[in-house]
This record gives sequence, structure tokens and C-alpha cells, in this order.
Amino acid sequence: MTNILCIGAGYVGGSTMPIIASHCPEDRFVIVDINEARIAAWQSDQLPIYEPGLDEIVWRTRDKNLFFSTEIDRHIAEAEIIFVSVNTPTKTFGRGAGRAADLQYWEKTARQILKNSNSSKIVVEKSTLPVRTAEAMERILNSNGNGLHFDVLSNPEFLAEGTAVRDMQSPNRILIGGRETESGQKAVAKLVELYARWIPRERIITTNLWSSELSKLVANAFLAQRISSINSISALCEKTEADISEVANAIGRDERIGNRFLQSSVGFGGSCFKKDILNLVYLCEHYGLPEVARYWEQVVLMNEYQESRFAANMVASMFNTVAGKRIALFGAAFKANTSDTRESPALEVCRALLEEHAKIVITDPYAMENASQDLGELAARVVFEPDPYAAAKSAHAIAILTEWKQYAELDYERIYHSMAKPAFLFDGRNLLNHKKLFELGFNVYSIGKPPLTRLVNVGLTSA
Ligand code: NAD
Ligand code: UGA
Repeated sequence: MTNILCIGAGYVGGSTMPIIASHCPEDRFVIVDINEARIAAWQSDQLPIYEPGLDEIVWRTRDKNLFFSTEIDRHIAEAEIIFVSVNTPTKTFGRGAGRAADLQYWEKTARQILKNSNSSKIVVEKSTLPVRTAEAMERILNSNGNGLHFDVLSNPEFLAEGTAVRDMQSPNRILIGGRETESGQKAVAKLVELYARWIPRERIITTNLWSSELSKLVANAFLAQRISSINSISALCEKTEADISEVANAIGRDERIGNRFLQSSVGFGGSCFKKDILNLVYLCEHYGLPEVARYWEQVVLMNEYQESRFAANMVASMFNTVAGKRIALFGAAFKANTSDTRESPALEVCRALLEEHAKIVITDPYAMENASQDLGELAARVVFEPDPYAAAKSAHAIAILTEWKQYAELDYERIYHSMAKPAFLFDGRNLLNHKKLFELGFNVYSIGKPPLTRLVNVGLTSA
């Protein structure tokens, strides 16, 4: 039996460890966190995150070979392998503010591991970190005067929220980076052996530490770049009567381009794309590569443009004012099948419309609590309504901001009749059947497609 600890019971720790535990019944897994409420939620019937299929795996493993705890020091002492999946947000102060990763939680963890260890251990970076962070981790850990040795491995996580269970059960690849020393390679082999219990060996890639750390940032940068690329073209489509779905389909059929991550939208959100690209930008600047930094920064700038362009189009289409108008936002989560609202474009659109003094009603099947928290003081100016029909009642406009399947299945005839006229529908996810909505009476505006409207002299204007 191996004692395995995970520090950080957030999205990553909380969704990966139960799955690993389910495949390694003879090993003992503990997930710890400083956040007592979060640990209590993991121990309850109401898990702190919504992730399809995860509940069942937690019920199956919890209190058998998987335990949640706040006793961090004790469990560090007992562990042989420690995964660290604490948050690594963008720094908001000091040098590198707004770009560099804030490594304070990460460093605190390293010091805590050192303080509570009385045996040598393998420490695994699961959090997303700037390239060469493992070097600092190694320095802190191996600065002990008592002969203990720590092998630091990089094992970045590639799961996406909403499909975390599927991604972890059957990943495209598992990446493990380690030192090319004998001890480093032994540690790599131990982690490979853990994953090989259910993942085919050829899908487990081993590299040097720095390639592994950097690959994680680069994977997110490439994924986000595709979205910004297609979104940039959506703006051009709106000017030229080309249709972004047709363009995406036509280019995606080329096997060299591929058809995934070409869904044009109101913008990408989530806790990682923006922060990881900004981190990459900062690294490039740090290493004296300003041209490379500017190249990647543009992916984030294009996303901000897309979000503000969408909100500005709403205002322009609704006769250049939304002051006092009720607008129903369908969706708050940054994507479907998650309750996460971090960096959600829906909340960006909400903020922009509040600036214009619109009366905002938000509906979402799972993310309203997080939305309210993320909006902070602005939440007091928003109505949260679980029922989309009630949210749309008397509204001047609906904006589809999260691609929840249930929004495609609503009775839009009923919704249309309950709304103020002219009724506007802005589809920020190109989720609905626009022609049908237009026939029902809606004025329909989507992403990268000509608007379907009966209103003359009112068209899309760019931000
Ligand atoms: P999160 O904020 O949901 O969870 C992090 C947890 O770490 C929090 O519960 C926090 O209380 C805890 N924590 C912080 N400092 C601690 C300490 N000293 N001791 C114990 N617990 C501590 O973050 P997340 O979304 O799980 O992301 C974690 C890391 O994984 C980040 O680096 C992120 O970039 C990366 N990542 C996230 C995703 C994702 O889908 N969310 C996917 C891949 C990688
Ligand atoms: C992303 C990556 O996909 C994961 O591989 C990575 O592990 C993770 O970030 C991370 O490091 O945190 P996630 O943010 O959960 O996962 O979700 P994605 O499916 O990548 O979607 C991100 C955003 O892009 C969402 O707002 C989504 O709606 C948007 N998106 C995605 C589009 O607008 N168009 C697309 O074609 C695809």
C-alpha cells in the first residue's frame, strides 16, 4: 500500500484523486485543504463542484481508500507521494502584477511539506506552473539538514471541466516530467506505474521537467488561440454576410486543421486560459522575447474584444439604449455542464450591460450561487431566477451565454409571447435554430452570421 496525499481539494484535486483512487484500491488517498467548508462539502452528500459522473465515484471510494481532511501536517508526515494542486492565480500585486503567476500558495505548501516530513518523498506538481518552478521547489525541499531527499515531478492536468471524469478515465495522454538522475527516473517510474493501472502505457509520456511544465502552458495557449482565431473571423463574417458555422465546417474538414475548438462564441472563459496565457507572456518577457510575448498576448486581447463586441452589439441593436430594459441572461457558467463561473464571458456581458443601466435577470441550472459570489457588489443589482421562462417574462431581450442543452429545448413560442416587443434574442453560443426563432417573431442576432431582423436601419455595429 502506498500513502498518497493531495494538497488542494479544488476542481483538480477533487476530481482527479477520486478517479485515481477508484483504480488503485490497494493504495490510500487523502485530500487535504485549508478551506474547512470545502472539505466538509466533499464529506457530505452535496459535493462542492458539479461535475457529471463524479458523485458516483466519490460515493464508491470515500471512506474506503479515499479520505478528505483538514489535518494537513499529519497527512504530510504519513505520505510517500504528495500531489500539489493548489491554486496558482495571476498575481495582482508587485512585480509581474496582472501577468505572472502568484506562487504564494505554492511556496507555502513546499515549506509545509518540508516542516512536516520525516521521510523522503515524491512531490508532484499538478497545479499549472511557470516553467522552471520545480527548480525552486527542489531548492526549498532539499534545503533540509536532516538527510531527507525529495524528488519533484511535473504532472500537469489536462482535464476540462464538465468532462473531467471522461478525460481522467480515458485521457489523450498523461505527461510526467522528471529529473534525468537515477532518483528522478525512479520517481518517474513510480508515477508511471500508478497511472498504468488503467491507462495504456503508450499514452503516458515522460519528458524532462521543463518540457512538462512548459507543455501545459502551451497546450492551453494553443486551445485558446483556436477560439480567438475563429472569433476574429466571426467579426469579419458579420461584415461580409459570410457565415462562421459554414466557414468553421469548411476549414475544419481539412484533417490538418481538424474540427474541434472551432465553435465561435461570445468568448472563452474559465479559470485557466487567460491566466496561463498571461503567464506565458510574462515568461517570454522575462526571457527577453518581447515579440513572442506580443504574439500570445493577442489571443487574450482578441477574447476581450469579442466579449465587449457582443455587449456593444446588444446595445446598438436595441436602439442604442438598454437603460431600464429587462434583459434575461441565459447561462452564467463559463461553459455548459459546470457550475464554475470563473472568468465567465456571461459575467463580463452582465457587467457591461449593468454599466448601461440595464435590468439584468440571470438564470442558470447550476451556477447561480457562484455567479452571485463572483459579481460581488454588483450581485445586488441582479435578479437571479432559476426558471428561464420566468426570467424571460416581460424582458426586452434574451442573451444565450452558456450552451446548456436545456436552453435549446425550451418553448420559444411561449417565451416570445411573454416578452416585451420588439423581442430580441442574442445567441452568444450559436446554440439555437435562428430561422425558426425569426419566424416566431424574434429579432435574432448571433455570432458571425447576418442578423435576422425586421427592424430597418438597426444593424450590428462593432465595439
Ligand atoms: P481551486 O481554486 O478550485 O482549488 C485549489 C484549492 O487549493 C483551494 O480549495 C484552496 O483552498 C487550496 N489551497 C490553497 N493553498 C493551500 C494550502 N497551503 N494548503 C492546502 N490547500 C490549499 O483551483 P483548481 O481549479 O483546482 O486549480 C488548481 C491548479 O490546477 C491550478 O494551478 C490550475 O491552473 C490547474 N488546473 C486547473 C484545471 C481546471 O479545470 N480547473 C485544469 C487543469 C489544471
Ligand atoms: C481547458 C482545457 O480544455 C483543458 O485541457 C485544461 O486542462 C483546462 O483548460 C485548464 O488548464 O484549466 P476548460 O477551461 O475546463 O478546459 O474548458 P474548455 O472546454 O477548454 O473551454 C474553455 C472555454 O472556451 C469555455 O468558455 C468554452 O465555452 C470556450 N470554447 C471552447 C469556445 O468558445 N469554443 C470552442 O470551440 C471551445
